[in-house]
Amino acid sequence: MGELVRERSRSRGDRVRVWVERKHRGRVLGDPAREPAVAAADLDDARRREVGQPPQRREMRSFRIEDACQQAVILALVNLAVLREAEGGTMRRLEGHEIEQLDPYVFMAVIGKRVIHPGGRTATEQLLRRADIHEGDRVLDVGCGVATTAITVAERFGANVTAVDISPLMLERARANVRARRADDRVTIDEGDIVSLQFPDESFDCVIAEAVTMFVERERAARELVRVCRRGGRVLATEFMWRRPPTAEAREIFLGQICPGMKFDTVEDWVRIYQNAGLADVRIDDGPFEMMTSRGFLQDEGRGGMLAIMGRVLSRPAYLKKMAWLMSRMRRAVPYLGYVAVAGEKQLASSLDAAGSRVREPVDA
Ligand SMILES: C[S@@+](CC[C@H](N)C(=O)[O-])C[C@H]1O[C@@H](n2cnc3c(N)ncnc32)[C@H](O)[C@@H]1O
Repeated sequence: MGELVRERSRSRGDRVRVWVERKHRGRVLGDPAREPAVAAADLDDARRREVGQPPQRREMRSFRIEDACQQAVILALVNLAVLREAEGGTMRRLEGHEIEQLDPYVFMAVIGKRVIHPGGRTATEQLLRRADIHEGDRVLDVGCGVATTAITVAERFGANVTAVDISPLMLERARANVRARRADDRVTIDEGDIVSLQFPDESFDCVIAEAVTMFVERERAARELVRVCRRGGRVLATEFMWRRPPTAEAREIFLGQICPGMKFDTVEDWVRIYQNAGLADVRIDDGPFEMMTSRGFLQDEGRGGMLAIMGRVLSRPAYLKKMAWLMSRMRRAVPYLGYVAVAGEKQLASSLDAAGSRVREPVDA
């Protein structure tokens, strides 16, 4: 094949173009638009055919990003993934049967995904635009996953963030990410359950929960988020929704096979749930589920992150098997899925009194 000189890629839409330049018999061959030498390469191929040898190179390729995952470009990144696996050596290596049992979102964290909610970074930005967070504010991120939003909030606004999650595996990765970003002084990671948070009433100026309430009793979770927020503070949540009525197959695949037990609602239902929990001035942004489309993946994780994740998936048969299982099902559910980003203000005391102190309702046992 010749010695690899340079490899470049550029993505546009859902396609990625890759130029592979190789030194062949002393010449550099490459992008035909920029490297006339490729004509000589074609001659070399013609000569090879004459003597019964197959052509040996492909100098320029244009892949769909999905296809690119299966191509040699990505294989080269397995090395990177192996390195990253080694770097994460403080984390326990999971057995194959454990990987098979993982919830899809925990699996995403294990393979290195940083943004694990349906609207991706777009939805986070929509929430943060409505957040009104200031330096020194106390912010709670519930169901923080690997702490991506918690770290962003601390770094961008200079807020003091407490991030809680119920999954030990998520907490382990969240702590590692906070350490890696040297954000320990601003982000505290703790175990916590969204339906019974350990914090006193009104402990935070802003409370965030991205893609968490639908795993539990939604009304109760919403009340807890509002309870721990101060009056006049903001509660922000990203929730799943059906963007259009799902087919029976899509519903069964998503709620039956991929996320059994998960429940979610229409935009109107989500607004009602949060208003009943004590939020006023509820604002909504919504959009399609893009977390696992190639475009969303690229946008959320960046090109380096995306390729590292793909490399990591390729590095273990158990990851590949789980990913194949997940993607083959997600593909059929994604067209119907979307997210709604909900932002509201906890009502002031006077409104609460007028509304019968809804936030003081006891949490159901
Ligand atoms: C879809 S992931 C979202 C993670 C993170 N918020 C993000 O957007 O990247 C859902 C998260 O909620 C956590 N979770 C599930 N049930 C929970 C509960 N009862 N209390 C707190 N966290 C919970 C999961 O462990 C997981 O980290």
